[in-house]
Amino acid sequence: MIGVLFVCLGNICRSPMAECVFIELLRRAGLEGRVRAASAATSTEAEGCDIHDGARRKLRAEGVPFSRRRARQVRREEYGDWDYIVGMEARNVAALRHIFGGDPAGKIFRLLDFSDAPRDIADPWYTGDFDAAYEDILEGCQALLEQLRRTEKI
Ligand code: 4NP
Repeated sequence: MIGVLFVCLGNICRSPMAECVFIELLRRAGLEGRVRAASAATSTEAEGCDIHDGARRKLRAEGVPFSRRRARQVRREEYGDWDYIVGMEARNVAALRHIFGGDPAGKIFRLLDFSDAPRDIADPWYTGDFDAAYEDILEGCQALLEQLRRTEKI
């Protein structure tokens, strides 16, 4: 099974939204058994916290299921556990390379680098704009799923 780990700074806004949106896209495509997804933080800023209220509200409005969860920091030892380790912005990618001591297998990506318009996803923790974050995350998750269909033949 292909493993995808979504990563942001705190693991309470963007990466859990990406995890839930991606799992819902997989479910709608009948691919739940082919790909697994989870999320984590580069920092310990929000360790143990549940998804941010604004993210929960947006997921609920979009009909994307989610459940209670606890933010956690990514661990150096889990590099081998995943096929795709996907940050939300360049800063996350740099932090991931630092945590893992590089990227020997070339599995660290920025989510919107899979799309036609590569860019960072702004942090709604600071912007307050969960609608914009959701739209960017959906675009990235759809592009990632297309990439998996092409390259992994799922
Ligand atoms: P996220 O947003 O990286 O999208 O989860 C943040 C959430 C919390 C903090 C920073 C960013 N924080 O510093 O607590």
